[in-house]
Amino acid sequence: MSETYSFFRAWLLDPLRVAAVMPSGQALAQVITSEITAGTGPVIELGPGTGAFTRALLARGVREEDLALVEFGSEFAVTLRRRYPRAHTLWMDARRLQGVELFGGRPAGAVVSGLPVLSMKPRKVIAILEGAFGKMHPAGAFYQFTYGPACPIPRILLDRLGLKAIRIGGTLANVPPASVYRIRQRQPRPPAQDRPATGLPAAPRG
Ligand SMILES: C[S@@+](CC[C@H](N)C(=O)[O-])C[C@H]1O[C@@H](n2cnc3c(N)ncnc32)[C@H](O)[C@@H]1O
Repeated sequence: MSETYSFFRAWLLDPLRVAAVMPSGQALAQVITSEITAGTGPVIELGPGTGAFTRALLARGVREEDLALVEFGSEFAVTLRRRYPRAHTLWMDARRLQGVELFGGRPAGAVVSGLPVLSMKPRKVIAILEGAFGKMHPAGAFYQFTYGPACPIPRILLDRLGLKAIRIGGTLANVPPASVYRIRQRQPRPPAQDRPATGLPAAPRG
């Protein structure tokens, strides 16, 4: 089955989760991975789908064993596991990232996200960002693409989490055209136990 067809089929079955009718193109994969090199160290990819960004990460020199692929769709996770046997493919909801150990405890240098954050509730987005930044070293960056006209993480959430977002590029050669944002900590984070509460109720489990 072609990647485009299997992606479309997954979208038909679960349009809110998959959130796109076809995989990202090469041009978007180039932009979202443009700041990542072999020296970045471990990279976490959220929502890899059929692996459009995974291929670009490997082409940029990230070692397969330094990749954690976090995918909620079983149809995609099974194929990713088969195609990238040395990567850590986790069939799970990205909101649970905080609870898993990756790379033997080594911090990641970057997170590349294909998640449909615009259709997620704020509590879920907070859990994903907290999990992602908890797994990265302080200078690590979270890359998120969007089809929308602005950063898909609302300013109020960025402020609450002490993060800042910058648009690093975009491409018209994607269906639909897309932009990429780099999100970083404004200041290095204190350890989790010293951090103030976000002010929102704890994200429900499940
Ligand atoms: C818009 S697609 C992007 C796929 C791929 N990165 C690309 O650009 O072609 C969204 C992907 O995120 C996955 N996804 C959605 N919600 C998720 C979640 N909570 N945790 C992990 N993966 C999720 C979907 O299954 C799908 O593979």
